[in-house]
Amino acid sequence: NKRMNIGLLGFGTVGTGVLQIIQDHQDKLVHQLGCGVDVKKILVSDIEKKRDVNVAPEQLTLDPQEILDDPEIDVVVEVMGGIDDARSYIRHALENNKHVVTANKDLMALHGSELLQLADKQNCDLFYEASVAGGIPILRTLVEGLASDRITKMMGIVNGTTNYILTKMSKEGRMYDEVLKEAQALGYAEADPTADVEGLDAARKISILGTLGFSMNLDLNDVSVKGITDVTSADLHYCDQLGYTMKLVGIANRCGDKVEVSVQPALVPHEHPLASVDDEYNAVYVYGEAVGETMFYGAGAGQLPTATAVVSDLVEVLKNKRLGVNGNSVVIPQFDKKLKTDEE
Ligand code: NDP
Ligand code: HSE
Repeated sequence: NKRMNIGLLGFGTVGTGVLQIIQDHQDKLVHQLGCGVDVKKILVSDIEKKRDVNVAPEQLTLDPQEILDDPEIDVVVEVMGGIDDARSYIRHALENNKHVVTANKDLMALHGSELLQLADKQNCDLFYEASVAGGIPILRTLVEGLASDRITKMMGIVNGTTNYILTKMSKEGRMYDEVLKEAQALGYAEADPTADVEGLDAARKISILGTLGFSMNLDLNDVSVKGITDVTSADLHYCDQLGYTMKLVGIANRCGDKVEVSVQPALVPHEHPLASVDDEYNAVYVYGEAVGETMFYGAGAGQLPTATAVVSDLVEVLKNKRLGVNGNSVVIPQFDKKLKTDEE
């Protein structure tokens, strides 16, 4: 049997986890796909950097074209982050008829519509499950598991870094700066953690959830955003005394064709399920008119949980490829309906 070749763009926290899962779970992959999976080339920015995984020097490259233009590479996995290079490489891969998996919510929230349309035109898959809530398979749940329902509300803790900071500050009385550094060292925070702590990362995720859950194109500019940079240990202490836990919560509400989307620190009553979501864990509450209340919980950031979502997307692509039914199963094909918030 032919083996499947993939190319990795990026080899940091998530990329290393992807290689590790492909190596460690090769038996499961062979069982599911009927063939093995090889990581043929990996794009990095520093070829000399010491890597903590089993990788051959000839697998690493500084030249993206060695991946994007290699006819033997079936699928490109983008886990480098950032917007401009990532967008251009994904476009290049799709134009060369390669399927793409990405964990990049910054890119998908801003340019998802354009990239998904290109993927559709090229008859290629573009999957991005890892972009929201790390290891929780929430995107596929929205577009497949709840496909028949009309979703009217989504609410969640969708940023692991800020949840980690708030948890450690309130439960262990630790200082903001020290805990942020720890979240960076643990691989939860973005390369530049500003987007985490200012709420933009959560806004990008809630806008992706809104786009898929409400089947509408939700513009990031429509999301009202407030992060946790002003939250003090005293705030958390008084919240606790009053019977609340402070959490950074993203909310998307739909009423008819109007949608309100926001991210802000919220006071959650101690007895509410979201109050017990601690550390880097995430939880997404989804209300559908028919199904009622549902809630999804799991690790929202970190190497192996995120890499699990990436490799599961990869399995889906490879299954589709083998079956010859390539198509964007987590894509809403029409992006023509612009949302309005109440203010507009
Ligand atoms: P890291 O910063 O740990 O890794 C980024 C990797 O990409 C590094 O290997 C770096 O190379 C490489 N890289 C970056 N820019 C370039 C470039 N222009 N050319 C070549 N190589 C480049 O990031 P993460 O692994 O944490 O995140 C990757 C993506 O996954 C991001 O989009 C992030 O938002 C997303 N994500 C991350 C999660 C997490 O928990 N960390 C969870 C969910 C999504 P080098 O190694 O040489 O420095
Ligand atoms: N920086 C992100 C977080 C990574 O802390 O949630 C997961 O998307």
